[in-house]
Amino acid sequence: MTAFTLAHLSDPHLSPLPEPSWSELAGKRITGYLNWRRGRAAFHRRAILEALVADLRAQQPDHVAVTGDLANIALAAEFAPARTWLETLGTARDVTVVPGNHDVYVDATREAFARAWTPYLIGDQSAPSEAVAFPFVRRRGPLALIGLSSALPTPPFMATGKLGAAQLARLTDILARLAQEPVFRVVLVHHPLRASAWHKRLVDSEELSAALARHGAELVLHGHDHRDSTLWLDGTGRAIPVIGVPSASAAGDASHDAAAYNLYRIARVRGDWVCEIVARGWHEGAMTELRRIRLF
Ligand SMILES: [Fe+2]
Repeated sequence: MTAFTLAHLSDPHLSPLPEPSWSELAGKRITGYLNWRRGRAAFHRRAILEALVADLRAQQPDHVAVTGDLANIALAAEFAPARTWLETLGTARDVTVVPGNHDVYVDATREAFARAWTPYLIGDQSAPSEAVAFPFVRRRGPLALIGLSSALPTPPFMATGKLGAAQLARLTDILARLAQEPVFRVVLVHHPLRASAWHKRLVDSEELSAALARHGAELVLHGHDHRDSTLWLDGTGRAIPVIGVPSASAAGDASHDAAAYNLYRIARVRGDWVCEIVARGWHEGAMTELRRIRLF
């Protein structure tokens, strides 16, 4: 059986954070900046992220999905280094990105990610000169990767996300169309469908769950919570696994898992999908295999 291997990582929260100007710190960024200086800078470590990326590349996945929060407070100077980091993961053909709330932290730079990372978040039918639009669809091997944007600027101390009616309507059409083919549909979204806290929730998660229940999907991948998590949603015929990963740079603490990523080995056997997950992560100062689970 030849399997297609999809790697999923999230929330690298790239460091070092460029030094902001006073004018950039006006408004919401000041709270994010103080958070970064007080704890997040020590928690999200570049050396751990680099070990994770080296380990991931050594596994030679066929494709890599990144579900947002490359940036921290969306300073204009964060986006070019994030693009350089993406290039260390692979080419835009082999890596797909969706944005997180930290990538659109404030109104002033809410479009910056789309300009800096364009080739990594456009659909197969779009030219790099076109505006980035969600959802986008990319076909890779047996997969259809469907990229959503739940990212939007929020008031201080809020980290909610929203897809909106127009994006949900387009997603519904895409899922219905792809359901006609033997294709493994992977939905990528930054926010989880069941949030760990009210101020971090996806406000239209019920509408997303309803679209998934109606037309099905084989897998939903997210970040945001910085935790390893699995939720099963109603689907068509088979329940849909919704799986989150810890931050790819996390040192780990009492309430957050240390850095990890998942490898999905996907194959079609006698007309049915087979999918195994291999979780690899940071443990006692090195990358190691954490567990291996047959999903279906
Ligand atoms: Fe995050």
